[in-house]
Amino acid sequence: MSDIKETGENAALLHAARQGLAAQPKSLEPKWFYDEAGSALFEEITELAEYYPTRTELAILAHNADKLARYLPRDGALVELGSGASRKTRTLIEAAPHLAAYLPIDISGEFLHGVARDLRQLYPALEIVPIVADFTRPLSLPAPYHKMCKAGFFPGSTIGNFLPTQAADLLRQVHEWPQMEHFIIGIDLVKDAETLIAAYDDAKGVTAAFNRNVLRRMNRELGANFNLSGFAHEARWNNDCSRIEMHLVSLYEQTVTIAGTHYAFHTGETIHTENSHKYTKDSFTNLAADTGWRVAEFITDPHDLFAVAVLTPAV
Ligand code: AVJ
Repeated sequence: MSDIKETGENAALLHAARQGLAAQPKSLEPKWFYDEAGSALFEEITELAEYYPTRTELAILAHNADKLARYLPRDGALVELGSGASRKTRTLIEAAPHLAAYLPIDISGEFLHGVARDLRQLYPALEIVPIVADFTRPLSLPAPYHKMCKAGFFPGSTIGNFLPTQAADLLRQVHEWPQMEHFIIGIDLVKDAETLIAAYDDAKGVTAAFNRNVLRRMNRELGANFNLSGFAHEARWNNDCSRIEMHLVSLYEQTVTIAGTHYAFHTGETIHTENSHKYTKDSFTNLAADTGWRVAEFITDPHDLFAVAVLTPAV
C-alpha cells in the first residue's frame, strides 16, 4: 500500500470509484480501462478472431481511400478525435497529399506528442498540430485553424461508448467548429446477438482480462482490495437500447474497501463497466439529422458488419 500515487489521475479515479460504486446500480466509465496494461489488452482485442470491428474498418478505409480523400479539403486540415496511435489515419493522409495540416486530439499528452514526432518524420510536408484535450468537453480549436477548411475524423466506433444524448452533443460540437465541411465517422452496426456477444466475450478471455483490469487498477492505484476471481466478466446484448453492455458480476456476497469506505456486493450484483452502442443506417442517419448533419456516404463492408459514414452539414 506504500506506493499509492498521489497524482491528479488517481484523485479522479478515486472520485469516479466513490461515485460509481456508491450508486445503484453500480457503474464505472469505460475510460478507466485504459491504463498502460488496459491499453495493451485493448490492442490485443483488436487482433482477436471474434473482434471484427478493427480489421473491418481498416479494410473499408483502405478500399475506399481515394473516395474518402475527395472529402478532405485541399490546403485544409484533418481533425481527429481520440487519435491514439493514428494508425487508421495514415491511410487517409497517404491518399490525400493535398491536406495542409493534421490536428490529432487526444487526452493522453505524452503519447500524443510521441506520435506527432513520428508523423512529422513520415510526412514532412504535413503540418502536425497535436491538441491535448478531452473532446467530450466543449473545446475550441486553435485560432490559426479557424479559417482553414476542415474535415473531422472519428474512427473505431468510439462513438458507441456514448449514450445517444452524449453522441448527439459530440456531433453538435463538431458541427459548430468553424469551416467544418465533412465528418468521417466509424460506426459498428446492429447484427445478430451471437456475433456481437462473441466479439465482447472472446474464447481466449482477453476481453475478460480487459474488463477485470479496472479492478486491478483500483487495487494498484487506490489501494482497493478487489479479489479479481470474485468477479466474472459478462457481455450482454441490450436489445431495447441497441447496445452491448459489459459487466463485472460479483460471484458471492462480498465487501470491498477503497480508501476506508466499504462497498457491499450481493451475489450476482454487477458493476456496469461499458456500453457499446450499435447503429443501423437508419438510426445513425436520424442521429445525424437531429444534430445538423446529412449523410453523404455510408460505406459498409460486404457483410454489413461495420460502416464508415461521411457527414456533411445539412444547412
Ligand atoms: C474502443 C469503444 C470501440 O466498444 O468495441 C472492445 C472497446 N470493449 N472490447 C468497443 C471494447 C471491449 C471498443 N471501443
